[in-house]
Amino acid sequence: MPHLIAPSVLAANFGQLDQDVEMLNQSATDWIHVDVMDGRFVPNISFGFPVLQAIQKRAQKPLDVHLMIEHPELYIEQFREGGADIISVHYEACPHLHRTLQQIKATGAKAGVALNPHTPVTFLSEVIQDIDVVCIMSVNPGFGGQKFIPHTYEKIKALKTMIQEKGSSCLIEIDGGVNLENAPLLLQAGADVLVAGSFVFNSTDPKQTIQNLKDISI
Ligand code: DX5
Ligand code: ZN
Repeated sequence: MPHLIAPSVLAANFGQLDQDVEMLNQSATDWIHVDVMDGRFVPNISFGFPVLQAIQKRAQKPLDVHLMIEHPELYIEQFREGGADIISVHYEACPHLHRTLQQIKATGAKAGVALNPHTPVTFLSEVIQDIDVVCIMSVNPGFGGQKFIPHTYEKIKALKTMIQEKGSSCLIEIDGGVNLENAPLLLQAGADVLVAGSFVFNSTDPKQTIQNLKDISI
């Protein structure tokens, strides 16, 4: 499968969100990554349902909603109604992860689990068959524009091995500090989906930057 590119709208210009989403529609974007932060699970607040709905109104690509919130199980159905195609919850926020994954799937959305940098991939070994996407955080969640954590490569390799051993079809997504320098190495290590926020939106030609990320061959 060719790798997927998921630009993060956290780095978009919210004063012209429609234009930015339109640019993504016209680009090689595969998924639109939507970062929801509650100021509790992470020390930052981004946006919630009204912004998600505004994105959904315009978007012609699947919405990949990354919930950096406590008690995500309280809002799964609402995010699905707001247009989420993939809903990722954090391992660290879900004491009943298996139940929450079933809850996400019951809405018809694909189920994702995000792991903070300190959380070992082995913690997912008993539920890997129930997960559609594992999002390995390559920065500490909460902010765009942070520096990539190199230990991520090891985690990708370990997760890839686990997925193969368990015969799962789960995708590996990398989120945080992704750029054209580390992207080829991430793909070589086994990544399937690359999230990129500031690298895309702070570039002079975001559409071309997305294309460049998409065109990497390994
Ligand atoms: C971080 C978010 C990321 C972020 C990525 O908490 O989950 O999706 O937007 O931004 P960059 O690519 O700038 O690190
Ligand atoms: Zn994210």
